[in-house]
Amino acid sequence: MNKHDTTKRARDKRTEAVHGGTRRSQYGEVSEALFLTQGFVYDTAEAAEARFLGAGPDEFIYARYGNPTVAMFEDRIAALEGAEDAFATASGMAAVNGALVSMLRAGDHVVSARALFGSCLYILEEVLTRYGVEVTFVDGADLDQWRDAIRPDTKAVFFESMSNPVLELVDIEAVAKLAHAQGATVVVDNVFSTPTWSRAIEQGADLVVYSATKHIDGQGRCLGGVILGTREHIRGVVEPYMKHTGGSLSPFNAWVMLKGLETLDLRVRAQTACAKAIAEALEGHDAIARVIHPGLPSHPQHDLAMRQLGAGGTMLALDLKGGKPAAFAFLNALQIAVISNNLGDAKTIVTHPATTTHQRLKPEVRATLGIGDGVVRISAGLEAPEDLIADFLQALDAV
Ligand SMILES: Cc1ncc(COP(=O)(O)O)c(C=O)c1O
Repeated sequence: MNKHDTTKRARDKRTEAVHGGTRRSQYGEVSEALFLTQGFVYDTAEAAEARFLGAGPDEFIYARYGNPTVAMFEDRIAALEGAEDAFATASGMAAVNGALVSMLRAGDHVVSARALFGSCLYILEEVLTRYGVEVTFVDGADLDQWRDAIRPDTKAVFFESMSNPVLELVDIEAVAKLAHAQGATVVVDNVFSTPTWSRAIEQGADLVVYSATKHIDGQGRCLGGVILGTREHIRGVVEPYMKHTGGSLSPFNAWVMLKGLETLDLRVRAQTACAKAIAEALEGHDAIARVIHPGLPSHPQHDLAMRQLGAGGTMLALDLKGGKPAAFAFLNALQIAVISNNLGDAKTIVTHPATTTHQRLKPEVRATLGIGDGVVRISAGLEAPEDLIADFLQALDAV
């Protein structure tokens, strides 16, 4: 089922992140050009007709279909991820929606992990089912549940490779084997794993989806997303759906993301080290029932994290003993980390998922997923880890 040529990535990710996809104009610019244009001029009417009949790889028609700056971003992230091709989208949710809706039909069956970001859950639970797609939810960490749920008519499986916010991993290789045995396409929302640590395609993912809004921009400026997969699937299935329904990435945002990719590796490595340092410093604190970070040996899937990613990632979560009052007191006492709901940013961001990002989940579902009222999610930024640790410790004193 996985038709990727995984031998394609000849150069190291770090090199691809800086040079992959570069197209230079006649001026030979060093920094990639921002083609802030929605349209393109044809020399003759015949040339316009020919382009509409079939545009070549570097021939553009309209920015909803494609644009040179967007193409640079698509080719760069595809090279980085080891995918054959990519389609850039207006946001991470446009990518999740596009990846799923472009290939599903009424009557299809989908199996999805239950631990989903609220908007992903909306697509699986409300949008797909409205159009006659049957969806079965499973506990993503339980392979027996995947095995039981995937059927011969299962068209796709979907999961967040590391769940938001309690950092539960899904074993991509194992689930992909089960899915491929039944001919199902494996769609992975890989936001928390990041392109730096990801080997999702090698491990069996057919389509990998990122919200570029997170680590790829990494500086809180723009929304964006991307769907990665085989050339046949991206150009044959995803592109027609995206270009006709309007979820394409704007050239300006593509330019920001393209430049973001150049520093992604440095940022994600520093943020990963920072997340681990904070987790180690806070583990065992009296006010905290549990520090959740896949890089800690105490994480129940630490071994899987090391095997799948080789690192614990840039996120951690704290389960405060005092529930919502303690979580709010902690957030309100912070002096460096900011209260917000994005992640992967240069600024350390702290979120209370139960009242914000995961508010739309029913309380009993939140309880099953371990998203209690005391859970606080931390996205480690680029500040000095020792300053952040001091900030978190003084905020815990306020709890
Ligand atoms: C796991 C996951 N998927 C998708 C998204 C959506 O991304 P965007 O906000 O760019 O649409 C988010 C955003 O928080 C996320 O955490």
